[in-house]
Amino acid sequence: MLAPFSKPLPRIKLGSSPDRLLRLAHLRPQLAGHVDRVEAGTLIGWAADLAHPGRRVAVECCHNGRPVASAVANEFRQDVEAAGIGDGVHGFTCVLPDDCADIPNLRISVRVRGTQTALPHHESYDVAVDMREFLWFIATDIVNNCNLRCPFCVVDYSAVKATQLMTEGTYRSLLRLIQCVPDGNFYLSCLHEPTLHPRLNQFLELIPVDARKKAFFTTNLARPLKEADFHAWAHSGLHHINVSLDTLDADRFAVLRKFGRLDAFRRNLNLLAEVFRRTPGAPLLRYITMAFRSNFEEIPEIVRYSREHWLASENEIRYTFNVAHITDDFRRQEYLHKEDWEVLTERLHRSGYPVRISYPPEDDEQKIPAQNYYEFQEPTGDPSYMRLFKPLGLRARPDGTILVGGAEDALRVNITALKDPVRFFRAVLKECQPR
Ligand SMILES: C[S@@+](CC[C@H](N)C(=O)[O-])C[C@H]1O[C@@H](n2cnc3c(N)ncnc32)[C@H](O)[C@@H]1O
Ligand code: SF4
Repeated sequence: MLAPFSKPLPRIKLGSSPDRLLRLAHLRPQLAGHVDRVEAGTLIGWAADLAHPGRRVAVECCHNGRPVASAVANEFRQDVEAAGIGDGVHGFTCVLPDDCADIPNLRISVRVRGTQTALPHHESYDVAVDMREFLWFIATDIVNNCNLRCPFCVVDYSAVKATQLMTEGTYRSLLRLIQCVPDGNFYLSCLHEPTLHPRLNQFLELIPVDARKKAFFTTNLARPLKEADFHAWAHSGLHHINVSLDTLDADRFAVLRKFGRLDAFRRNLNLLAEVFRRTPGAPLLRYITMAFRSNFEEIPEIVRYSREHWLASENEIRYTFNVAHITDDFRRQEYLHKEDWEVLTERLHRSGYPVRISYPPEDDEQKIPAQNYYEFQEPTGDPSYMRLFKPLGLRARPDGTILVGGAEDALRVNITALKDPVRFFRAVLKECQPR
């Protein structure tokens, strides 16, 4: 959200000479900005001087009026640029120091350095920061396998021979970290298919009630599921559940969701939506639709249908992370070109339903190696791989191995071996540099 300062900007009297206007503009900055969100002890937002859009302003995070951290607002933000604010290079990421964790009920106000005016955070001028949430995310996988073999899948399953299930003991160990992430940032399952775990529903119940909002999972919803499963999910208190929904066409489904059947998927989804509709407080349902040439024409209809029939609270339209094992044939046949994305964006905007579109990066992504986190990769020995950055996100494999998201070579420890994982990762965080 791009909200300007609510403090009135200096008014320039009509009738002033152009020369005087110029001088006033020079003397009086027109500051604008917003604190968008807090993640893992980090305040993220934007700030700019509209009178001098080339200038980079600095912001200070203050507790009781005293600065505790600062940052220059010089990060590029596409949304800021799209809102017509200079060149868009006005984003900031301000990391609070660890000793803020000792302050009970911490509230932080953010102001542009050298001024007394605070940046708004939605309707308020200060932000509650829960310093228990020092981790960005924890992406757990309670299984290592999937019932399907989608041709675009980010995981290379060619080496996965047997299904590995996370034990209750390992899972309980991981739950010791759940309070350390913001709401909606504890993936019960990230890369694989959680419904393969026979104890998924019991695992949901093991999450402390006051931490249920931290968690979510993503499912292909293509396995045979029972009404009791959907009741368990509806009463789980989870933040949300993501459902993958690429097509409503049976033949296309069989290709894109290889080994899956549209009729089974639809039966599940109809029942899930019916149970969720009847259950107050059921998790939000979000839908992820991969955008391909084959489903291009039906994407607006998928969004409409999921909103009107399947309780969609959010639709994400996603490009394919171009991992190495995806075949060249699939790339050639299915990847959208730049112009296709433009057409799709236009059509989706015209349809009136809000969507989140994850566009492919501009640069050539072909070089990205396979991101098969299941496979053990030997450390490269390159010290640059050993650097850790804030905010810190963790991945957890079914056997309890914890890796650092984006720096998988940097650290490898088993959660079950840690006496006090909160203390351990707080110490790791001290070694991290700001991104
Ligand atoms: C890896 S899957 C795991 C969950 C589950 N098996 C499913 O497909 O819903 C998580 C999400 O990532 C999407 N996905 C899979 N491969 C992808 C890729 N190469 N690029 C981007 N998203 C991908 C899936 O469509 C799904 O919505
Ligand atoms: S269903 Fe999900 S995890 Fe399974 S192959 Fe497809 S994208 Fe990959």
